[in-house]
Order: sequence, then C-alpha cells, then structure tokens
Amino acid sequence: MLASLAAASVVAAVGLTGCGTAGVTTIGSVEFSRPLAIPPLAESTVVDGVRTFSLTAQEGVSSFRDGAGTPTWGFDGAYLGPTLVAERGERVAVEVQNALPEPTTVHWHGMHLPAEMDGGPHQVVEPGATWTPSWTIDQPAATLWYHPHLHGETEEHVANGLAGMFLLRDTEETALDLPRDYGVDDIPVIVQDVRFEDDGRFDRGPQSFVGTLGDELLVNGTLAPYLDVTTEAVRLRLLNASSARIYDFRFDDEREFAVVGSDGGLLAAPASVDSLLLSPGERAEIVVRMSPGERVVLQSTPPDLGGLPVISQGNGGEDSFDVLQLRAAEALAPRPELPAALAALPEPEVSDVSQERFFSLNGTDINDRSMDMTRIDEVVELGATELWTVRNQMAFPHNFHVHDVQFRILDIGGSPPPPHLAGWKDTVYLHPNTDYRLLLTFEDYSDPDTPYMYHCHLLSHEDDGMMGQFVVVAPGERAPATMEPEGSDHEH
Ligand code: C2O
Ligand code: CU
Ligand code: CU
Repeated sequence: MLASLAAASVVAAVGLTGCGTAGVTTIGSVEFSRPLAIPPLAESTVVDGVRTFSLTAQEGVSSFRDGAGTPTWGFDGAYLGPTLVAERGERVAVEVQNALPEPTTVHWHGMHLPAEMDGGPHQVVEPGATWTPSWTIDQPAATLWYHPHLHGETEEHVANGLAGMFLLRDTEETALDLPRDYGVDDIPVIVQDVRFEDDGRFDRGPQSFVGTLGDELLVNGTLAPYLDVTTEAVRLRLLNASSARIYDFRFDDEREFAVVGSDGGLLAAPASVDSLLLSPGERAEIVVRMSPGERVVLQSTPPDLGGLPVISQGNGGEDSFDVLQLRAAEALAPRPELPAALAALPEPEVSDVSQERFFSLNGTDINDRSMDMTRIDEVVELGATELWTVRNQMAFPHNFHVHDVQFRILDIGGSPPPPHLAGWKDTVYLHPNTDYRLLLTFEDYSDPDTPYMYHCHLLSHEDDGMMGQFVVVAPGERAPATMEPEGSDHEH
C-alpha cells in the first residue's frame, strides 16, 4: 500500500514535469495590475467583558480576473474572511453561522483554548446552525488564523475560500516600536495557489503527492497584486493558506529582511534572512525596509523540500512565483530600526520533560494508523511538559501541526533550529528522515471527552487520515477508551 502510493506519486511527479521542462514559473510575467485587497477588520461588540464577533460561512462568486466569475466560499463575503483582533486577557466569543449547503467547522489555528472550543472535526456546525465558542485569550501576541476542519473536507472548504486571520495583541508587543498600523504598514499576506478553468471555476486537478498545486497565486484573494508602501519599513504577516504548496519567500533583489515572529508570537530578536520557507499552515511576521520610489517584488523560488530531485519536481519544488509587488512612495514616513530584543522567551528545558512520544509519518498514516474519530491516540496529563520526536519517514514532503499549544523546536536532526524557527511554533515542515524534537507544555484545559488534533497540514493528507487525536486529562483522570461515534455531538 505504502510502496504503491509512493510509486504512483513518482509516476505523477515525472508526468507533471513533462519532457524535462522545469517547473511552473510566473516570475516576470505577472503584471501587478491590482491593488492588494486588505481583509476588513471584524467588528465586535463588548458586553459584560466578552468581546463577541460573528462570522457567517456563505457561498458567493468572486471576480479574481476579467471574464467569468469563480464560485467561492467566504466568511461574511464571497472569499476569505475578516481579520479578527483581540487582546491577551480578553474573553472572546465568536458566533459562527453556517449558511452553506453542507456541514463545516471553524478551527482557531494556533489558539490555546479548551478542546470543545477548538473547532476541530468534532465541533460540526450543521447548515443553518450557529456555534458560539468562547474562551479567554491567554497567549502572546501572534498571527493566528481560522479555517474549517471538517474531517475529510478540509481541503475543499479551505480551497473554496474559507480562511481568515486572527491577530492577538499584548502589552509586550505593543510596547515595542514595530509597524502596527493595520493595512498601512502592518499587512496580512494570505498566500494561496490556484488554477482556473476557462469557465472561471477553480480547477482542482491534477493531484501530486502533496495534493493540488495551482499555477498562479492569490494574495488576500487578489491576483497579480501590488501594495503601495508609505513607510520606511513594512511588516508583512505571511500566512501559507495553501492546501499543498510549500513556498520559499524572498525578494527579487535578494535583499535581507527581518523575521520578527513565527507561528505563535514574536521571536526573542529579529532574525535576518534572505529567504524563508513556509509550508501550509505556517506563518511568519517579517519586516522589510524600503527606499523612496523603489519597487521590489516578493517572490517564491524553488523550496528545498529535502527529497530526491524527481520527487521535488512533481511536488512544487521547482516552481517559482511573483507574489506581491511593493511600490514605495516618493516620500516615506520615517521608521526606526527594529528593536534589538523582541519577546522574552523561556529557554526550552529538557529537564522538565515528564513524557516522551514518537510520531512517525509515512504514507498518509501517523504511527501506522489512519485517523479514527472514535479513537484517542494519546493521553496527555495536564501540566506536563512533553518531548515529541516527529519524523517524516518518506522522501516526500509532510509537515506537522499540533492543536492547543505552541511548541518550541529543541533540535532538528540533532542541531539547534535556525533563529527564525527558535520561537513559538505550531506547524513545522519536516525534511525527510530527520528527527524534529519538539517541547510542549500542556498547562490548561483538561477534558477527557474532547480531543485535540495533531496532523500533517498538507490538507489532502489530513483529509486522507494523516491525523491523530489527543486528550488532556487532569492527573489521575482516565480518558474513555473510545469516543462517541461521529454525529452524536453535533451542535444545533
Ligand atoms: Cu490549521 Cu488542525 O489545523
Ligand atoms: Cu490547528
Ligand atoms: Cu503530509
């Protein structure tokens, strides 16, 4: 089974690249003809100390390009959703309404919250129903996001357009002199690859091992976007919201830029790089400095997927894209250099570890098992610090995402992580046959009856069952041997 899967993928890989041609490239052919859409900030009301948002998942039609429209899904609109913003310490609630013709869920990716508020595959919202999770924001300022997580349907729902950002603020971040003016010098950059049929619909074939790869990019739902920059420094909150594609972001003039944040918050200090790999689900906050009048293009160049060249070719490893053109005004508002120190991050301490686990990713299984909604795979004790060793056993790409907590990467193949991966993470690309040792602390929220997920965030793999379930239990508490069957815990 695994062998035939791999063999089929090699065939697909060779087939896709044809007669020795290189991968897809849009570099130099993108006209940057449309202003980058900025998702609106979500409105909210505060009553009795609870900040309440509402999001309606609905069908629509989007005009990404001239000609026929594209049937899409969005939150409160035709495509993507508004940006939610909340402060650390605040109590929030979100009224999630499902106006779609089928069930969905909304998961708060990267959020530390009780399992029943997580919006995973067990928190189904039926058509016409409203689900209102509520929790207290208790984690550092960060760039999080939200998207459906219905088991077996996640790729379809996200690729239809259901995704948005959820930004957290805190006093530590606010005290730093960083670009923070939303839509002006603090810009969401939601990157998705798509392919269009002539009639305007999204084309979801052909499939490579990683899943569906597109041949052009949408950024915040905008094709061929440019951004007018009015400040000497601009903060880009990069989110890879693609189903399968792995990007290696850089600028066309190879300028250095500073990574200031990873999935779960600010780094300890800015990390200067000239390229940055992001796999599906990962985020990075970068700050790039601009000179008056210049134009610079954010691109994605062939990512190092770590496998054999033939595998890389068939899975986007030779593709390159123009992503977003930055157009600096003739006069730029001055911005100071970045602070030398950002967040206070605890040293990851292996001595705190009370439990070790090993996760082996192979085919579309984790530890030789496919996702079972009724099976609890791991039971974690509340308060524990755990060491999870995660290994991609294949020469093909996978990544790894954990719900509930942000982890720290202790080492990668025995070496300390590069500075831009040394902060809080919830998703990490797994280079083949390399041990990623992750440190996780489960401080809050025990619930023996409701699991959190860990999974590969290549969405077709997740849908194919490359996912497992863990519960967090109070010391001495037992988890049930099996979960209630699917359908018994739907909310109406
Ligand atoms: Cu972004 Cu389990 O999800
Ligand atoms: Cu998640
Ligand atoms: Cu995978």
